[in-house]
Amino acid sequence: MSDSLPDWAPATVDLDQPSAARVYDYLLGGACNFEHDRVFAEKLLSTIPEAREVARRNRAFLRRAVRFCVDQGIRQFLDIGSGIPTVGNVHEIAQKEVPDSRVVYVDSEPVAVAHSLLILDGNEYAGAAQGNLLDVDGVLGAEPVRRLLDFDQPIAVLMAAVLHFVPDSANPGAAVARYVDAMASGSYLVLSHAAKVDLQRSQDGWKMYNSTSTPGGGRTREDVAAFMAGTELVEPGVVWLSEWRPGSLDDTTTPERSIGYAAVGRKP
Ligand SMILES: C[S@@+](CC[C@H](N)C(=O)[O-])C[C@H]1O[C@@H](n2cnc3c(N)ncnc32)[C@H](O)[C@@H]1O
Repeated sequence: MSDSLPDWAPATVDLDQPSAARVYDYLLGGACNFEHDRVFAEKLLSTIPEAREVARRNRAFLRRAVRFCVDQGIRQFLDIGSGIPTVGNVHEIAQKEVPDSRVVYVDSEPVAVAHSLLILDGNEYAGAAQGNLLDVDGVLGAEPVRRLLDFDQPIAVLMAAVLHFVPDSANPGAAVARYVDAMASGSYLVLSHAAKVDLQRSQDGWKMYNSTSTPGGGRTREDVAAFMAGTELVEPGVVWLSEWRPGSLDDTTTPERSIGYAAVGRKP
């Protein structure tokens, strides 16, 4: 993508700042990124050579978790911090199995939302809205959420690779608890999160993010388990991304190289 704004992107997008959504898009081989995102991503890759693999393993977990939820009978998904659509999006996976599955994407990043709306054009069962996961009332009250999702029925709320961009000072646990509270019995919470590890390159990578508009940091396995409060953890619990119910094609070697945890919990 060139560095002039495409027609569909909001005019307010700041091209001079890398964004977590667009850097992640670049790592995954997407085309919705700009010069500053690519420079940042290449620097990140020289700091954390496995960064691309981390992104892919996260994405693979997300796909497995969505299929798992579909198998459990879930027909509606709220994907918060959904990112820029890439291959194997939640609506594609869910609607392939059950065509009228309802999916709403929420992200704070305007390019992510604009691109989601672009690819969802004509899809009557899916929508997207801009929102901050900390603004729970705003997210739950967003137009596509109210139009497409019914919180009186089981739902899957996904927060994949997003909570590590929310500092403890903003109390992300309280926001997650409110989503869990809003979910009907039989709903699922799907979460992935960067791990806090004793690796200099990981700490250096987060230092890089801390100079952007999306600072962040890893958390421990216990911290991630605490986010799952109010749900019963589905086996195998809070594990490395590639250890969560891997398929035959998933790379399960050196799972700690995913530098991220995965968890799925069911609301009793
Ligand atoms: C690494 S991407 C993850 C995308 C997707 N969930 C996945 O796992 O493939 C993180 C996304 O979270 C979004 N994000 C960061 N902080 C957020 C917040 N407070 N509320 C909503 N979205 C946020 C970013 O804009 C970005 O698109």
